[in-house]
Amino acid sequence: MDSPLSFPTFHIGRILVHGDAILAPMDGFSDWPFRSLCRSLGSAMSYTEFIKAEYLVRAFKRMAPRMRFDESERPVAIQIYGEDVEEVVRAALLVRTKDPDIIDVNLGCPAKSVVHYGAGVGMMRTPLKVARLFRKLTAALDVPVTAKIRLGWQDCRNYLLIARILEENGAAAIAFHARTKEQGYGGEADWDAIAEVRQALRIPVIGNGDVKTPGDVERMKAHTGCPAVMIGRAAVGNPWIFSGLERESVPVESVRRMVHEHLRRNLEFYGQEKGWIIFRKHAMQYLKLQKTPRPIRVRLIQSANAQEFLSLLDEIWTEE
Ligand SMILES: Cc1cc2nc3c(=O)[nH]c(=O)nc-3n(C[C@H](O)[C@H](O)[C@H](O)COP(=O)(O)O)c2cc1C
Repeated sequence: MDSPLSFPTFHIGRILVHGDAILAPMDGFSDWPFRSLCRSLGSAMSYTEFIKAEYLVRAFKRMAPRMRFDESERPVAIQIYGEDVEEVVRAALLVRTKDPDIIDVNLGCPAKSVVHYGAGVGMMRTPLKVARLFRKLTAALDVPVTAKIRLGWQDCRNYLLIARILEENGAAAIAFHARTKEQGYGGEADWDAIAEVRQALRIPVIGNGDVKTPGDVERMKAHTGCPAVMIGRAAVGNPWIFSGLERESVPVESVRRMVHEHLRRNLEFYGQEKGWIIFRKHAMQYLKLQKTPRPIRVRLIQSANAQEFLSLLDEIWTEE
């Protein structure tokens, strides 16, 4: 990670960001254990998983684990989503009490359960509401407010309009996943659209979609002019991408140590049983990328608990 004293790569409002690759917010993945590890390996800032405004307003204390962060993770953006403007503003004011550097609003989630009531990318269909929401949020908060958007919908690729509305209503930066709602996570991300938004705005645009290697970080920056990119799925099982390393060049001993540390943080954060269960999807990806044969992967993942998994893993990887 760059020293905080070195020249920042870009600013989000008054917040300085050092570095050009950021772990994307991912529900079920970018929790405190994984996020903090990625940040220590060079992810330039931390975004939490998204949190529903309604839950924040109704049960703020229960949402606390999703907002937990370490001081060393700063700058930290806590991400929220919702459909009701007043509720999202109330949620944001509550989130502010956790002292994040930035509050981010998700305008990109394509999940039916979110879109059907007009939140996530559902809100991109109501530009006036986006304007009202950001006008209110930026007036009510003393921290930068940002948004994460998509291309829009297949029948309404209104990313440029939404990006301009966000900037005019005080957003301090935009992260842009260049896929439509219908594309979900498939097909190709449209990097030309990212370049277009980047050129149209003065606030920083963080490009997102299809960054899979350190080389892609440079390629997306060159193609779009963005100061930084976000990396989602390619970071799972491969947090070394934030150190600019190719996955194949990471020694097995480093992977072994990472698996131990990641699992340790999971157990600390979620408790023994839940921590192990939640860790298994990460373990699967570490093992897959390490080219561990499938039958061995399956045997490992079927371990009854974390301790059994670690002893088996150490046995297998010491033999290699
Ligand atoms: C499992 C999963 C969960 C996600 N959860 C969130 C989320 O909570 N908030 C958000 O803004 N984006 C979320 N995303 C989208 C990612 O942040 C990112 O935009 C997307 O994966 C594209 O980037 P990639 O091609 O590098 O994976 C999620 C994606 C995945 C695969």
